[in-house]
Amino acid sequence: MKINMDLLQKFEETIDTIHPERGKVPIMILGYGEISLVFELVAEPNIAYKRLPIFDTKTQVQRHISAYKMYHKILERLGISVPLEDTVWFYSQKSNIVLYCAQEKIPTETIGNKIIHHLSGEEVETLVLLVMRQMLKVWSFNQRSKSLKVGLDGQISNWAVVGNNPQNPQVTEEDQLIYLDTSTPMFRINNVDAMDPVLFLKSAPFFLRWLLKALFLEDVVGRYYDFRLVTIDLIANFFKEQLPNLIPGLIKVINDFFSDEAEKLDITPIAYKEIHDYYEEDKQIWVIFQNARLIDRYIQTKLFRKQYDFYLPGKIKR
Ligand SMILES: Nc1ncnc2c1ncn2[C@@H]1O[C@H](COP(=O)(O)OP(=O)(O)O)[C@@H](O)[C@H]1O
Ligand SMILES: [Mg+2]
Repeated sequence: MKINMDLLQKFEETIDTIHPERGKVPIMILGYGEISLVFELVAEPNIAYKRLPIFDTKTQVQRHISAYKMYHKILERLGISVPLEDTVWFYSQKSNIVLYCAQEKIPTETIGNKIIHHLSGEEVETLVLLVMRQMLKVWSFNQRSKSLKVGLDGQISNWAVVGNNPQNPQVTEEDQLIYLDTSTPMFRINNVDAMDPVLFLKSAPFFLRWLLKALFLEDVVGRYYDFRLVTIDLIANFFKEQLPNLIPGLIKVINDFFSDEAEKLDITPIAYKEIHDYYEEDKQIWVIFQNARLIDRYIQTKLFRKQYDFYLPGKIKR
């Protein structure tokens, strides 16, 4: 993959984390997760960059890159398609070490959280079934494997439908999916996380870090290793996507899937209330978290006159 390091470095040195699109090096935002910014360089499009300004030491960033590469290999080995990837990191004047994870760009219209708004309810159910089949590969492996355990974030925005026609989006059982969210390498060898879990906290406001660590970290990371919880998260997403009417149908799809194709994993069926309660709780945690980050940003930039390392998305409709 051809990464233009000079241009990225220039981007980094002139970044305006409050309005990243107004920096000296023009970019287009492709999407953002709850903690990251994904963009392409206008001058050299078709590569999606994810900026991770969370490392203090060379050892940390190198560990992360090797985990990232290994995770890519593991997913491929399990039969899950992932985009071509590469990484580049450098010392930045402002935030010590910055890592950019590069991926071939996937057409935005084919990504799960976009495409679901253009499909029939039945097609969305097919899409979720296809996601479940991909995830089954991971948890069937985990059931067999003693030392290596693999985690995954199954949210609909992390999957794209390969080769879908944006003019006429359709999903059938024959469609292939690709998994995008590989920059958080989630696997454990003999119970040791490949990724330093503390890195998850790096984007948290400094005054919340300790509290979060004590309260949530085990929970937050651990839930990505639990097929049932990952599925609840996937379905609860449809509240956030303003498609709550689809949820009862989707619950039927996944419970049928658990009792049929995933029978060997012996997963307890999921009830509507669980998904609803989970969503309400999750929403509250994120609202608290995002507000705390806004306060943190204010303190860092206005009071300490420092650079704030992260891009904070605008209000997310929930
Ligand atoms: N390779 C890509 N091509 C196009 N858009 C992408 C690509 N990777 C990510 N995105 C967009 O950015 C969003 C966040 O990326 P993701 O890797 O899932 O980050 P996070 O870990 O923050 O969830 C995705 O939901 C998608 O909209
Ligand atoms: Mg994601």
